[in-house]
Amino acid sequence: MAFNPSAKQLKGIKAAIFLLALVPLARMVWLTATGQLVEPLEFITRGTGDWTLYFLCITLAVTPLRRLSKMNWLIKLRRMFGLYAFFYAFLHFMTFFWFDHFFDIAGMFRDVAKRPFILVGFTAFVLLIPLAVTSTNAMVKRLGGKRWLWLHRLIYLIAPLGILHFWWMRAGKSNFTEPFIFGVIVAVLLGARVYWSWAGAKSPAPGRHSREGGNP
Ligand code: HEM
Repeated sequence: MAFNPSAKQLKGIKAAIFLLALVPLARMVWLTATGQLVEPLEFITRGTGDWTLYFLCITLAVTPLRRLSKMNWLIKLRRMFGLYAFFYAFLHFMTFFWFDHFFDIAGMFRDVAKRPFILVGFTAFVLLIPLAVTSTNAMVKRLGGKRWLWLHRLIYLIAPLGILHFWWMRAGKSNFTEPFIFGVIVAVLLGARVYWSWAGAKSPAPGRHSREGGNP
C-alpha cells in the first residue's frame, strides 16, 4: 500500500525539505566566506544555475511520480519545489546583475541582448516570475483554477528554455554531457504528460482540479 503521511508527518516532511533545500546555498556562502574558492563568482553563478535546473526538474517530476506511485500527497510538496526553483533562479540572476554588472540595468540589458545564451536564461527567469507571484492559494482562487492552470503551463516552456540556456553556454566549450542528460530528463518528464493527456480519455488523472493538484 502507498505511504500516506498524517498531517503531522507531512508537516515534518515539508520542514525537512525546506531546510535541505537551503543546504546548497549555505555551502556556497560558507565556501565563499571562508575563502576556499579560487573563482567564487563563477562557482556561485554555476551553483545557483545548477540548482535552478535541479528544482525545475524536481517540480516537473512531482506529477508523474504521484501518478505512478499513487501517493497523491506528493502534490502538496510541488509548490515548495517550484518556489525553490524561483529562489535559486533569483540568486543566479542577482549574482549576474550584481557582480557582473554592479546593478547597471542598461549595461545588463546590453549584455543580455548581446549574448544569446543569457537572453534565453533571462527569458526563462522572467517567465518564472508570474508563476511565483501566483503560487499562493489566494491567487489560485483569484485567477480561478482554469486560468491558473493555463498560466502555470508556462513551466513547459521554462524548463526547455533552461536546457537551451545550459546547452548554449556549454557549446562554447563543446561539453554537452550534462546538458544532454538534463535534456533527456526534461524530455521524459514532459513526454510523460503528453502521453497521459493523449491517453487521458481512457484513464483521467486523479484529483485534477484540486487546489494543489492537476497539471502542470
Ligand atoms: C530558469 C532560468 C535559468 C536556468 C535554469 C539557468 C541554468 C543555468 C545553468 C545550469 C548554468 C550552468 C551551470 C554549470 O555550468 O554547471 C548556467 C550558467 C549561467 N547562467 Fe543561467 N540559468 C537561468 C537563468 C539565467 C539568467 C536570468 C541569467 C542572467 C541574466 C543567467 C546567466 C548565466 C550565466 C552568466 C552563466 C554562467 C556562465 C559561465 O560561467 O560561463 N542564467 N545557468
